[in-house]
Amino acid sequence: MSDKLYSATFILPDGTKKTVQGKEGTSLLFLAHDNNIPLEGACEASLACSTCHVIVKNDFFDKLPEAIDAEEDMLDYAFGLTPTSRLGCQLILNEDTDGIVVEIPSQTRNMSNK
Ligand code: FES
Repeated sequence: MSDKLYSATFILPDGTKKTVQGKEGTSLLFLAHDNNIPLEGACEASLACSTCHVIVKNDFFDKLPEAIDAEEDMLDYAFGLTPTSRLGCQLILNEDTDGIVVEIPSQTRNMSNK
C-alpha cells in the first residue's frame, strides 16, 4: 500500500459537495467518518445493513468491481435504490476510483426504521 492520496467527492443530502482525500485502501465509509461526513455505517462494514448506501454519480460506476452477492442482498433493502447504487463500505480508494463522486441519499433505512 502506498502513501499516495486519492480523492472522493461526497454530495451531502443538502446538496453541499465535499471533496476529501484518503490513503489507498480506505473505504468510502471510513473516509467519510474521518472527515465528519454524515454517512451512516450501522454494521461497521460487515455487510449487514444498507445504511452506508451511496449513489455513484459519474462514470466511475462502470469501473468499480462488481458488487458481491452479499452487497447486492443488502442493497435490496436500501431506501431509494438506483441503478448506480453501491454500499459505501465496499468502495475502496485506489487509482481506479480516484476522483469518484457519490451522493449520500437523504434517507436511509435501518433496522429500527426511524
Ligand atoms: S456499513 Fe453496513 S453494509 Fe456498509
